Amino acid sequence: MNDATRPSLATLAVWGGELDKSFWERATQLPLVQSASFGYRDLDEWMDVALGRTPGHIYSRNTNPTVAVFEEKMRLLEGAEAATSFATGMAAVSNTLFALLGAGQRVVSVRDSYGGTAKVFTDFLPKQGVTATLCPTGDHEALEQEIGKGCALVYVESPTNPTIRVHDIARLAHAAHQAGALLVVDNTCATPINTQPLALGADLVLHSATKFLGGHEDAMGGVVCGPSALIQRIYHYREITGASLAPMHAWLLVRGLKTLALRVRQQNANALAIARFLSTHPAVASVGYPGLPDDAGHEIASRQMEGYGGMLCFSLKGGWTAVKEALPRLRYAHCAASLGGVQTFAGPPATTSHVECTAEERAALGIPEGLIRYSVGIEDTVDLIEDLAEALGG
Ligand SMILES: Cc1ncc(COP(=O)(O)O)c(C=O)c1O
Repeated sequence: MNDATRPSLATLAVWGGELDKSFWERATQLPLVQSASFGYRDLDEWMDVALGRTPGHIYSRNTNPTVAVFEEKMRLLEGAEAATSFATGMAAVSNTLFALLGAGQRVVSVRDSYGGTAKVFTDFLPKQGVTATLCPTGDHEALEQEIGKGCALVYVESPTNPTIRVHDIARLAHAAHQAGALLVVDNTCATPINTQPLALGADLVLHSATKFLGGHEDAMGGVVCGPSALIQRIYHYREITGASLAPMHAWLLVRGLKTLALRVRQQNANALAIARFLSTHPAVASVGYPGLPDDAGHEIASRQMEGYGGMLCFSLKGGWTAVKEALPRLRYAHCAASLGGVQTFAGPPATTSHVECTAEERAALGIPEGLIRYSVGIEDTVDLIEDLAEALGG
């Protein structure tokens, strides 16, 4: 599908992967196929499907009809040739890195990726003989310098979790390709509604589908989209190592995706209004949100994002003590370790994205103990601002 014929993302979110399907018994909605295996009495037909000569399903660890619709919807939303899915976002991250990297190779990334991803770089890849060099987050010169020394893969989130820094995808894609490396972008915090990493030059885009894609905090999943040859390698790794997306979760994710564009637009608008409010609040030391004109990522985000996203962070002047006092006072926010849902979520990195790190490690990553990650839901803007005003006092 070329750009001229590509429907809008809102339409793809609703219809993608479901247009030409004849669902079971003429159902209009995607059936949940809770079957581990698929049976064939004709052995020639079975063989053809097993060898990939004809479409079909053999065993749900490999492929499943409900899961395939989720993958197809994501493929279309990210404008990719192919997509494959996983049980969680971390399975998407780790399977992608382990499938593509081997002993003696080098990956370049930044210091404050999501905590689980950071642990893959610092603890697990080195055990496989892969070197990971982590640059200061958002420092494009440092990234270009390290990429120029030679590497197989460059990995960034944009915006990052939890410090909401924006990476220039087109610039990093250029640097990666000059060095013969692949650029992988974690698009969890932006969503395909706000950023299209493949169109900007990235080779692969991945997500924790648990977050904005599902949007209702009732399903876990992950997905990676890109060229067929790369996706086939990652699919093969996942098919054998087994972190497959369960049909029930795929079904919930497909249902959630239908409202993705509506939700994200409301979250963009809410987050911008809240960031403006917080930036003038006396208890707040700093606000990280690329929609604010003085934010370090504003210029890049204005070029590469459709909206500035539903995630922001702010640090309280009173540090950890102030965080402990303010968070329980919020009425319209779950104090919980997730993001991207229809309901607002708030939490400190110490108990959310960077629970795996010590306080010293967080400080080294530039994550102060007074920081709150605030994932804006689809509630009314005024209610959320009033809630924050009451919780912060002053
Ligand atoms: C940016 C980002 N990537 C990946 C993950 C991992 O996703 P999951 O929790 O679904 O394994 C998270 C989780 O918070 C995340 O925020």
